[in-house]
Amino acid sequence: MNLLDIYARLKSDMGYIEQELERSVRSDHQLLRDTSMHLLKAGGKRIRPIFVLLAGQYGEYDLEKLKNVAVSMELIHMASLVHDDVIDDSDKRRGQLTVNSKWDNRIAMYTGDYIFAKALEMVTRLPQPEIHQIMSSAIVEMNIGEMEQIRHFFNSGQTMRDYLLRIKRKTALLIGISCQLGAIAAGAPKDVSKSLYTYGYNVGMTFQIRDDLLDLCGTEKQIGKPPGNDIRQGNITLPVLLAMRESELRDPLLQELERIREVDGQTDVSHFLKIVRGSAGLQQAEDIAIRYKEKAIHALEKLPNIRAKEDLIGIAHFVGERSY
Ligand code: IPE
Ligand code: IPE
Ligand code: MG
Ligand code: MG
Repeated sequence: MNLLDIYARLKSDMGYIEQELERSVRSDHQLLRDTSMHLLKAGGKRIRPIFVLLAGQYGEYDLEKLKNVAVSMELIHMASLVHDDVIDDSDKRRGQLTVNSKWDNRIAMYTGDYIFAKALEMVTRLPQPEIHQIMSSAIVEMNIGEMEQIRHFFNSGQTMRDYLLRIKRKTALLIGISCQLGAIAAGAPKDVSKSLYTYGYNVGMTFQIRDDLLDLCGTEKQIGKPPGNDIRQGNITLPVLLAMRESELRDPLLQELERIREVDGQTDVSHFLKIVRGSAGLQQAEDIAIRYKEKAIHALEKLPNIRAKEDLIGIAHFVGERSY
């Protein structure tokens, strides 16, 4: 089974979610409409709404309720990407120009805020305060994760724990709560929504480690933007942290890091990438990603054996191996 089969099964419901996404950002304000539509039209995997819909199958599946969670999860994700591209000074995402490069940083910041607010508008249509609380704390944590990333830029002394905590906040939490809130919105029992959170959190960890590997080893065609962006910004990711533990690579990597820092974001990082690509750090990071994937699948064990379970297992495998 691959991701396309899962998409095919959810096709009509995802089509509806896509429509609702468009509707949610429709604005009387021309510029906000243009920037938001530009983002939506650039595509993306829409993986967070998929998690919501699959988790919703563990309760009473009602698309009218679930759409509020599904759309707001994708909006939070999109808003955070718009802001992230400003911070990273990225020109491309999903193979298209970013809002900051097509318009400018100021417009991107407000577009992000606008989309965040739209996410809140959607989710507060659901009556359960628990949903609102979980979502607000996740946004707070995501913020902390992004701030922590900035604080650790070019910090070669950071630990693996620093890295793992940061990616939990910036990525894994949102995927975790997409599963959890899908279940809660569908009225699933508490132990089920908890297990689904654990599943999503672990898939999210795998997802970000793969993203970080792709940034080091992927091609522009695969990842929709030039590779090496992370290190150009000073973001030291897991494979790099692991490569720096190799005694003969440590000094050359530190020297490169210093050089990249001095030229401030605009430099050729191919030598750095070459060293990391030749290290054991790639395989070790891969192994850690796989361990999270296995934990994710394990979290589903006690759940009832419904169709969605196979799909969730299939997505975990896709995420563990993904190349886009
Ligand atoms: C990219 O997320 C940012 C990360 C959290 C790694 P996705 O890979 O889900 O981005 P799109 O939505 O498919 O473009
Ligand atoms: C994910 O991390 C960003 C957010 C969670 C906002 P990245 O910085 O790795 O995302 P990409 O690589 O730019 O898509
Ligand atoms: Mg980024
Ligand atoms: Mg990345």
